[in-house]
Amino acid sequence: MTARKAEQRSLLEARYGAAQQKPDNIIWTPQVEALLRHKSVRTFLADALPDGSIETMVAAAQSASNSSALNQWSLVAVTDVELKQRISDTVARSVPVARIPWIEEVPALLLWVADLSRGAEITKDAGKEPFVFDYLDSFLMASIDAALAAQNAAVAAESMGLGIVYLGVMRNIAKEVAEMIHLPSHSFVTFGMAVGWPDATRTSCIRPRPAQPMVLHHNRYDQGSYRVYLKDYEEAYQTFRVSQNMSAKTWLGSVIESATSMEYMGGRVKLRETVSERGFKLK
Ligand SMILES: Cc1cc2nc3c(=O)[nH]c(=O)nc-3n(C[C@H](O)[C@H](O)[C@H](O)COP(=O)(O)O)c2cc1C
Repeated sequence: MTARKAEQRSLLEARYGAAQQKPDNIIWTPQVEALLRHKSVRTFLADALPDGSIETMVAAAQSASNSSALNQWSLVAVTDVELKQRISDTVARSVPVARIPWIEEVPALLLWVADLSRGAEITKDAGKEPFVFDYLDSFLMASIDAALAAQNAAVAAESMGLGIVYLGVMRNIAKEVAEMIHLPSHSFVTFGMAVGWPDATRTSCIRPRPAQPMVLHHNRYDQGSYRVYLKDYEEAYQTFRVSQNMSAKTWLGSVIESATSMEYMGGRVKLRETVSERGFKLK
């Protein structure tokens, strides 16, 4: 076996774990390999980002498809240490935990904004009302575009050797963070992203995903078919958690907790209220 084949095999092993079935017909390209190598990073070195890295990430982000070429997202890159600390402290209080090291330690906190503010202003400047923005789909469109942009930026960052972790927890403090970064009406921080140099000595491993038949359907959705694959996924999930010294927790338990624990919601219980205060009527 060549070294490349061995690497591909170990990537699939990491992505699906030992017990689960794995596809044997992956069409390997350097890009596919890089995607399969993804892991969230929550332990960063203090080193600054290389010059041009944010601009490179933004060029990659802008290269993602976006709905009707309307460019309805923005990025606020927080590198000011004092502001980043204030955001980190506010998020930590919402969880609540004493501190969130991966926000405190990282050189850049990227805030991905679903942004209809430019479109609203351009429309009003033309003497018209942007009433379509009152509908849920407009909010969804901008949020989807922000997510696609962010993922392209994440892939670009990882290709430079940087590490990232998404921060949905930013929505816990949607109102406060909007004020802290002076967001205009009709814009909303969809999620954050910490980006920096991974501290290889403390970085976690690739996290396994369910076997493909759990998520891949052909032509018709096959409800309930996932059940067959749960046991093996649970095994992969447990093996990963043990290897990373994480607390004992089953995947099923996590799913149920996510569906039944208001604690899990953090400050997001009032999200609809905050989003509509920010100018999105969600009709
Ligand atoms: C939209 C989104 C929001 C997330 N929010 C958080 C977060 O607030 N805190 C965190 O530690 N990880 C967060 N994550 C990272 C996930 O926990 C992580 O992607 C998942 O456990 C899979 O692990 P992996 O990225 O290492 O493959 C988020 C991921 C996504 C896609």
